[in-house]
Amino acid sequence: MKKSLKEYFVRAKEEGWALAQFNVSCAEQLQGVVEAGVQSHSPLLIGTSEGDAGFFTLAFAVNLVAFWKKETGLPIFLNFDHGKSFEVLERAAQAGYDALHFDGSRFPLEENVAIAKRVVILARKHRISVVEGEFSEVPGGHSDLHEQEAPVLTDQDYTNSEDAAEFVKKSGVGSLAVMVGTLHGIFKTTHPLNIKRLQEISERGIEFLVLHGGSGTPEQELKEAIQNGVVKINVSTDLRIAFTNTLKETLEENPTEIAPYNILPKSVEAVKRIALSWIEIVGSANKI
Ligand code: 13P
Repeated sequence: MKKSLKEYFVRAKEEGWALAQFNVSCAEQLQGVVEAGVQSHSPLLIGTSEGDAGFFTLAFAVNLVAFWKKETGLPIFLNFDHGKSFEVLERAAQAGYDALHFDGSRFPLEENVAIAKRVVILARKHRISVVEGEFSEVPGGHSDLHEQEAPVLTDQDYTNSEDAAEFVKKSGVGSLAVMVGTLHGIFKTTHPLNIKRLQEISERGIEFLVLHGGSGTPEQELKEAIQNGVVKINVSTDLRIAFTNTLKETLEENPTEIAPYNILPKSVEAVKRIALSWIEIVGSANKI
């Protein structure tokens, strides 16, 4: 019997490692991640945001992941990241995704809980083992923020442990995206992770804790977060930078080249290198 994503999370939590969720929006980014998984014997978790999936299409993402699973024999899971409505997650579930993240952080809390509950029922129906909820938004946004200072944070921005426990209990989600100082995108400055807050949340007995905004977070802090119960760390910007900047360089160096098979391999290789470094950080190598 093949192990579910939930089973990997359980094991990761017990053994003190995590899975990186690699967000991709095209076949070549996925190829780079898969090559890293093959080289390091790591289980893989792929993510698509609404934007990624809009380009990729749900069916193509599901089928490509299925192809790579068969081709490599690796456990590869696919999560729909930041689904903002029940309907979009329903389409992802029907298409064959392995995990669903309902980001209801912009809804009033009661509505967020109510929709998350429906997503949990939806997941059960489709034998999806992991539903992630979110009520405290991780700030940031698009990836290209290098020149900007990190936004100022107040205590209110961080996930409150009591609210977290209540949200999980009421909604029934197994996984919770927590805000403890990471930011979506890479900024000029960072906030130190609030490990004390993470410990407080951990002590509430929530099954799985998730960090968004992996890119740009110091390695040591990520490792400390994993030792305090985080089983998944989302990574997008790092892979975009690797892919796109390498593509730009290749095109600049070879202005007359037009064959994709000559242009894209360096980008695939760059994504592979970044994915390998993340696999090393989260400790998922040789955990198949
Ligand atoms: P980064 O772009 O900062 O890596 O964040 C990715 C993310 O959290 C996607 O959900």
